[in-house]
Amino acid sequence: MKANVFHGKNDIRIEDVEKPRADVGEAVIRVTLTTICGTDIHIVRGEYPVAPGLVIGHEPVGVIEELGPGVTGYEIGERVLVGAITPCGQCRACLSGHASQCGQGEGYEALGGWRFGNTINGAQAEYLRVPHAQANLAKIPDELTDEQVVLLADIASTGFGGAEAANIKIGDSVVVFAQGPIGLSATAGAKLLGASLIIGVDGDDDRLRMSKRMGADVTLDYRKVDVVSEIKHLTGGGADVAIEALGTQPTFESALRSLRPAGTLSSLGVYSGKVEIPYDAFAAGIGDHKVVTTLCPGGKERMRRLMEVVRHGRVDLTPLLTHTFNLDQIGEAYSLFGEKRDGVMKVAIRP
Ligand SMILES: NC(=O)c1ccc[n+]([C@@H]2O[C@H](COP(=O)([O-])OP(=O)(O)OC[C@H]3O[C@@H](n4cnc5c(N)ncnc54)[C@H](O)[C@@H]3O)[C@@H](O)[C@H]2O)c1
Ligand SMILES: [Zn+2]
Ligand SMILES: [Zn+2]
Repeated sequence: MKANVFHGKNDIRIEDVEKPRADVGEAVIRVTLTTICGTDIHIVRGEYPVAPGLVIGHEPVGVIEELGPGVTGYEIGERVLVGAITPCGQCRACLSGHASQCGQGEGYEALGGWRFGNTINGAQAEYLRVPHAQANLAKIPDELTDEQVVLLADIASTGFGGAEAANIKIGDSVVVFAQGPIGLSATAGAKLLGASLIIGVDGDDDRLRMSKRMGADVTLDYRKVDVVSEIKHLTGGGADVAIEALGTQPTFESALRSLRPAGTLSSLGVYSGKVEIPYDAFAAGIGDHKVVTTLCPGGKERMRRLMEVVRHGRVDLTPLLTHTFNLDQIGEAYSLFGEKRDGVMKVAIRP
């Protein structure tokens, strides 16, 4: 089969590799639609390490091709969505409600639920082996298209998860730093949860426009205004919740500075290197702030719930799929997406 193989920094290639087989508890799906994540860009640029030789990508929609022994209640040919995170559903972490930090049958493992394109072969391929299939194959309702569900595997689950982790309440003011796909999904999540005022921050005109479409009431261009003082003004002293969706020191710091005392900073970005907490913005450590982090929630129940949100018209993420490529053209898709050219938000990849 054809697959996108990572060989080293700035070196990915479409190659012929062996088609995977389903062992006990596993399934193989024929991938019908996938995409590229900001985290894949970090991988290709050498900022997040994965082993050379790995097939990357972690956002699969497909059709069941093979079911291993012990996987019940599914049939060959059924359409399924699989989350970016594939927890085992049985370990201490999973059964304690921390499935993204799944210990694969044992205790806890940091990021252990994230396996596709991280520790096992991923979704930018014609076929994909799904571990712990019983916990991870989410059947797609007939009335939903692949395009309507593909972004639920990662960005929507992550963005909504960041809003949920902040425990947003009806009437809260929420600011979201960065309006890339993750931040836009967090904006949509804040809206779903009943925020009264949502402020989207970015420096790209297309993304600021999309921010309004996804639920922001106000957008701020960090290139043009002093974002923190503007947020203080708009919220009457500081936001209840600030969501960080980029993974840099400046956005983390601005998020903290934008909060009212005892506000919640919900962080979604993948950081490289050190993150520092400024003493003044942190009220010397006794400001009753909460800082929470979230790795994309996965598993079939999460995917079922998110598909219901789409099916009942609560949210539509298809406007984010701005470009389409075949698997053969994925190199071109990576450069367009990585350089944010041509108004790109997310790219649809059809194996
Ligand atoms: N927590 C998770 O489970 C999870 C899952 C997927 C991705 N991520 C991470 O989330 C982050 C965002 O991903 P993405 O795909 O949305 O990224 P992206 O690169 O597509 O978007 C980033 C956005 O930030 C904007 N930006 C740059 N500097 C800014 C600033 N100073 N203030 C405000 N906005 C600024 C850019 O204009 C761009 O629109 C990445 O670090 C990615 O690795 C985390
Ligand atoms: Zn991702
Ligand atoms: Zn587990």
